[in-house]
Amino acid sequence: MNLKKIRQRSFRRRKADAPDAPDLMSLIALAKAHEAAIAYLEASLFERPFTADALTSLFASPAFTGYALVDEAGDIMSYILMNQVLDEAEILSLGTARAQQAKGHASQLLNTTCALLMEAGVCRIYLDVAEPNLPARALYAGCGFSESGRRPRYYGAAPQRQDAIIMSKALDGHKMINETARGMRLSDEIR
Ligand SMILES: CC(C)(COP(=O)(O)OP(=O)(O)OC[C@H]1O[C@@H](n2cnc3c(N)ncnc32)[C@H](O)[C@@H]1OP(=O)(O)O)[C@@H](O)C(=O)NCCC(=O)NCCS
Repeated sequence: MNLKKIRQRSFRRRKADAPDAPDLMSLIALAKAHEAAIAYLEASLFERPFTADALTSLFASPAFTGYALVDEAGDIMSYILMNQVLDEAEILSLGTARAQQAKGHASQLLNTTCALLMEAGVCRIYLDVAEPNLPARALYAGCGFSESGRRPRYYGAAPQRQDAIIMSKALDGHKMINETARGMRLSDEIR
């Protein structure tokens, strides 16, 4: 499957996990039209967000790859921003809109992203996460990432600098396919 040609992947969320949720979510590839929505989410989720200017540069980069889960109205629930170079991908940001958190969106998006990258020939995905960000570290660990390093005093300003934990995951074909298949239905056009 050509990653650049993927526009939309639809699936039904597991009703047992979110019984009140609407039925249909879609996976979209992020493009320039989504910059403003991502800038808004970044500002609402991060102390040091990607600014609108930084997002414009990032989205214009040939290395950029991004995905989002959107609801039936097209509103972004969860998103991931990455740089992909050769057979490696770096997660630059990942977030779920506050009202949509704790419904499994980030883990579903992350597992699907890993599967798509694996299909595109990416062998390894990695990221930095602030040591105190335990929800994010738990998310990544739950999606099969492991800690592979540490950057001392990487985030923030003195005297409250925080270490960055480097987490990574090898993209293994069989495992990816199983994780992607769990709890989602792929639309016919991209199956
Ligand atoms: C981290 C974040 C992306 C998780 O998004 P989410 O859609 O709520 O995550 P999910 O519902 O898919 O949860 C997946 C796992 O993450 C972990 N997790 C999520 N929220 C958590 C919380 N508040 N406390 C502890 N663990 C949490 C859990 O392990 C959870 O698995 P479980 O439901 O089986 O316990 C979201 O909290 C967020 O946007 N945070 C602010 C931005 C941020 O820190 N991004 C990460 C940058 S590296």
